Order: sequence, then C-alpha cells, then structure tokens
Amino acid sequence: VTDSFRVSGSSPGRTLRVAILGFGTVGSAVARRLSHPDRAPGIALTHVFDRRAAQKRRSLPTAAPVLWTSDVDEVLHGDADVVVEALGGLEPAAGWVRGALLAGKSVVTANKQIVARHGQALWTLAARQGRQLRFEAAVGGAMPIVRALGEGLAGDRLTRVVAILNGTTNAVLSRMDAARCTLVQALAEARACGYAEADPSADIDGTDAAAKLSILCALAFGLRVDPREIARRSGEWIEPDDFDRARRRGGTIRQLACAAFDARRRALTAWVAPVVVPRESLFGRTTGAQNAALVTGERSGEIGMFGAGAGGDATAVAVVSDLVAIARDPAAIVPPPGLTTSFTVDPAEFAFVPSDAAVAEAV
Ligand SMILES: NC(=O)c1ccc[n+]([C@@H]2O[C@H](COP(=O)([O-])OP(=O)(O)OC[C@H]3O[C@@H](n4cnc5c(N)ncnc54)[C@H](OP(=O)(O)O)[C@@H]3O)[C@@H](O)[C@H]2O)c1
Repeated sequence: VTDSFRVSGSSPGRTLRVAILGFGTVGSAVARRLSHPDRAPGIALTHVFDRRAAQKRRSLPTAAPVLWTSDVDEVLHGDADVVVEALGGLEPAAGWVRGALLAGKSVVTANKQIVARHGQALWTLAARQGRQLRFEAAVGGAMPIVRALGEGLAGDRLTRVVAILNGTTNAVLSRMDAARCTLVQALAEARACGYAEADPSADIDGTDAAAKLSILCALAFGLRVDPREIARRSGEWIEPDDFDRARRRGGTIRQLACAAFDARRRALTAWVAPVVVPRESLFGRTTGAQNAALVTGERSGEIGMFGAGAGGDATAVAVVSDLVAIARDPAAIVPPPGLTTSFTVDPAEFAFVPSDAAVAEAV
C-alpha cells in the first residue's frame, strides 16, 4: 500500500515545481503533503513564501531543497511552474496571483474572495498566458464541487444549487442543537477546536457563503454574480428557543446557500440564510465543519455531495488534486467559464428561523 498521488499520464521525468504563498493552516498542510518525494511523484515543493518564513521553516522537516523566503519576488521571478496561493484576503493576494500568471506560472488558489471578485479577469489572463488557474479548495473544502459543476455535470443544464458552504457556521449551529447552548458558547467551543477565527462575523452573517455561492453561480449557470447582490440573513440572533421550535417540527437549523436559475426568464434567485431543515434530510444530517450540496439538473435530476468542508488537511486534498491535474497535463487549456451579466435577480424568497414550511419542504 502506498500513499502516493495518482499522477498517471504525466510526462515521465518531468517534475512540476511548486511554490507556496502563505505557510498557515492550508499552506503548511499542502507543504507537509508535498515534502515527501515518495508521496508526491512528479511534484516537488521548491519555494515557501511567508512573512515569518525564517521562523516557520523549522516546522517542515524535509530533506529536499526548499527556498524559504519573505520576499515574494523570489517566488514570482523564480523557477517554480505553479504558485499555490494560501494567504487569504483580497490584497496583496490577488495582485500576486496576477503577477504569477503574468510571469508564466499556473496558479492554484484556496481563496474564494479572489475568485468571487476577480475570477473573470484572472481566468481570462490565465487563458491568454496559456496557463491554468485552478481553485477547487475555494469552495467546499475536500468536497469536489468545483469539478462536479464545471466538468462532471457540464453536459446538463443546471437549475438549482442548495448547499451548506460554511463549515464554521455549521459547526456552531449543530453544536447549539446538540448541547442546547447559546451561539456565544458554541462559538467559543468552535474557536477552541480551531474551526472559528477570532472574528467569525463573515461566517455567521453569510458573507463567506455568499462569495462561495457566487463562484458556484458562475460554474453552474454561467452567470457573473457580485456576491454583494446575493440576499443574506445573518444567524447572529439565533437562540436555543429557535432550535426547540424547529425540533418540535422534526427539524433543525442550518445556514443554507441557495441559487436557482430560470433560464427561460433569465431570472436568478440567490440567498444565504439560516433555515429550518428536516432533521433526516442531507442538510439536517450534516454536522460539525462538514459541507453538503444538492445540485439539480434538467436531465440528471438531483445529485448530492457531502464531506469535510474545512481544516488544513482536508483543504490540502483539494489543492493537491489541482496540482495533480496540472502535473498530468501542464499544457492543458482550461477555458474560462463564458460568463454573462444579462439576467435579473429575483427578489429572494427565503425563509428564516423560526421557519417557513415551504422552504423546509423544498430542501
Ligand atoms: N482553513 C481552512 O479550513 C480553509 C478551508 C478552505 C479555504 N481556505 C482558504 O485558504 C486561504 C488560507 O487560509 P488559512 O486558514 O490557511 O489562513 P492562515 O492560517 O491565516 O494562513 C495564511 C498564512 O499566510 C501568511 N500571510 C498572510 N498574508 C500575508 C502577507 N501579506 N505576506 C506574507 N505572509 C502572509 C500568514 O502569516 P501570519 O500568520 O503572520 O498572518 C499565514 O502564515 C484563505 O483564502 C482561506 O479562505 C481555508
């Protein structure tokens, strides 16, 4: 039994040289995975950039020669073939992704903000440069929803995506349900377990899930949707009583992200909100930091997905899978999604806690 990647089809003797920007939760997990040559045939970690590179290099025992630097130009003007962006935030990360593409490198990013806000420009640049921009880790953690929508279901006309896309909020809501505690208590526990950041407001208020949903709208419907156009309801005011009421109806509360596109009317409904879902449904059974998605297509019907939505090792799987795809075919042309802005956003018809039976039944 080996623990190596499946890079069958890559050209023999050609090693893909990989630089990582950001040695945090995700970047360090990717580095650990790549730093064993036996586990990464055909892929070599060559550069790590981080503002505390000198300090962090001790935490990656590897015999392979890796250049550690706090000077991003050493990566952008270096000899890596692919740059993995694992910094987070919009700038300077977006600028450095652009710089890497301009320097003739492919890019793998885990950053939903960059893809949601600058995706189209970066996809176009990557195509112009003959390089690849891959972002499986930006949505759904280890759950391969980017490939599922962009490739696996490309033969269907998709009509709806409903999903749990924020692992932190899901961990908090499922903890409130199980322990009958307050949001503040559940958040403190999530922080102690490493699921929540010091400021989790973008998770709880739906901003994070809206950015991910806008990426899914591009892949599923070919629509360029500004995440700020997506209707949001915050979960910050949810109380233990709301769970009691949901429980009496056989349900529980989850933050769902929903996008439905009526191609004939060219009308999109898109929202993120806490809603009551049946306890035995896919979403009701999704607990902790997991993510889940139900995708509906005109011909394929309903396709479901479920899995680890966050965490360094799980997210690193998505990043490394993108690297494997590039190693298999470094010269692949990945056409940018042909995006349109000609659609109307329907007033979002969504229900909040303490619930609307119509939405509960719909999911
Ligand atoms: N964590 C997850 O479960 C997860 C899941 C899916 C996607 N993602 C995405 O992955 C990306 C990285 O997340 P993460 O959780 O790994 O973040 P993180 O733990 O904060 O790691 C980011 C690393 O990059 C460094 N860094 C940030 N900005 C920098 C700059 N301007 N110059 C130099 N170094 C810089 C940080 O240094 P300091 O420590 O000094 O700040 C840190 O070492 C984000 O886009 C996130 O949304 C994360």
